[in-house]
Amino acid sequence: MENSVNTLIREETQPTSASVGDGKDHVVLRNLYKSFGDVVAVNDLNLTIDRGSFTCLLGPSGCGKTTTLRMISGFVEPSSGELLISGRSQRGVPPHRRNTSIVFQEYALFPHMTVRQNVGYGLKVHKTPKEEMNRRVDRILEFIGLTAMAERFPTSLSGGQQQRVALARSLVMEPEVLLMDEPLSNLDAKLRVRVRTELKDIQRRLGITTIYVTHDQEEALAMSDKIAVMNDGVLQQYGTPWELYFTPENRFVADFIGANAFVTVSIQQLTDAGVKLSIGAQSIELPRKAVAMDVEQQGAEAVLSLRPESIRIQAADTATAADELRALRGSVRMHQFLGAYIRYWVDVEGQEVIVDDHNPRARGILEGDVALQLGETETQLFPPE
Ligand SMILES: Nc1ncnc2c1ncn2[C@@H]1O[C@H](COP(=O)(O)OP(=O)(O)OP(=O)(O)O)[C@@H](O)[C@H]1O
Ligand SMILES: [Mg+2]
Repeated sequence: MENSVNTLIREETQPTSASVGDGKDHVVLRNLYKSFGDVVAVNDLNLTIDRGSFTCLLGPSGCGKTTTLRMISGFVEPSSGELLISGRSQRGVPPHRRNTSIVFQEYALFPHMTVRQNVGYGLKVHKTPKEEMNRRVDRILEFIGLTAMAERFPTSLSGGQQQRVALARSLVMEPEVLLMDEPLSNLDAKLRVRVRTELKDIQRRLGITTIYVTHDQEEALAMSDKIAVMNDGVLQQYGTPWELYFTPENRFVADFIGANAFVTVSIQQLTDAGVKLSIGAQSIELPRKAVAMDVEQQGAEAVLSLRPESIRIQAADTATAADELRALRGSVRMHQFLGAYIRYWVDVEGQEVIVDDHNPRARGILEGDVALQLGETETQLFPPE
């Protein structure tokens, strides 16, 4: 199987703008700003998206994801700022001249057309010669595993199959940039996981620059080379899934990606080697290298973020003195057995800490007083709200 969008779907058609400006920066957003009346939907957004990469725009409802995607596609005009694709400003360039293609949440397939007709529709509108159209449609149907369904109508397809038709319909247009707005949100949880794996595989094989909107953090982690986390129209952090998970730059990102407990602490002592924190009547010492700090002041109040899987839980009476430096005492308030792990909500000095025990059979279900051993892995200290 060929693995470039040019050779696979573009075939022997004439080279287009995709081959121009072969720099690594493919889509560049510079101080992009969009307001609707009083509402600032996207506020001064800067992003550089690599050619061939998979980028997610992630954030809660209303944070400006769709507006950003629509500005890239040309359906929404920015109030100010600049958008470059392959180094060229897109100001005034209408959507159909941008070489981008959007897959929406509602696949909007034509019910009276077969799969083949649906996929070929855009080519037909562009008056592509019939022979070339058939060849391109056939290739893409085969690539995406829909050949056997070519003559069927959308209503006779499952949600996941319809989703693939919608994707084929976009890919057959040979876009330089593929844009997707929550394309899997109509599928049930299991199918969503399967289709996202397929989608990612297709994207990798084609090497097509893809910008994907979701508010599902797991989807973003699973699929992305890079994630842009947004809140209230403002970019919070842009980085790899690994960076966002392990080194969130602020509390919003720490909270939005993965589970986290936030514990208010006060900084007792700062040395080059470690940081001593007090939580109510208890204190702990963490190695300095394990703590990314936004707070550098002794005596200051701070918020310690703790990942549930980074804490080891044991019955209080089995904890040894050697554990004490990084251990907190608490009592189990509630638990849920979730098969692969048990999630505990533990009261520590009136604050709540979430702990996941990923080896439930080793300890069984714990109740009452427990000791929580904080991991060696990175944790963050943020300023108080
Ligand atoms: N055409 C419009 N007119 C007025 N306000 C709009 C318009 N489009 C979007 N907005 C507002 O801009 C903000 C961002 O909307 P947007 O659709 O980009 O959010 P989103 O991140 O895609 O949210 P969701 O996850 O719910 O789809 C919202 O406050 C929304 O109400
Ligand atoms: Mg949206």
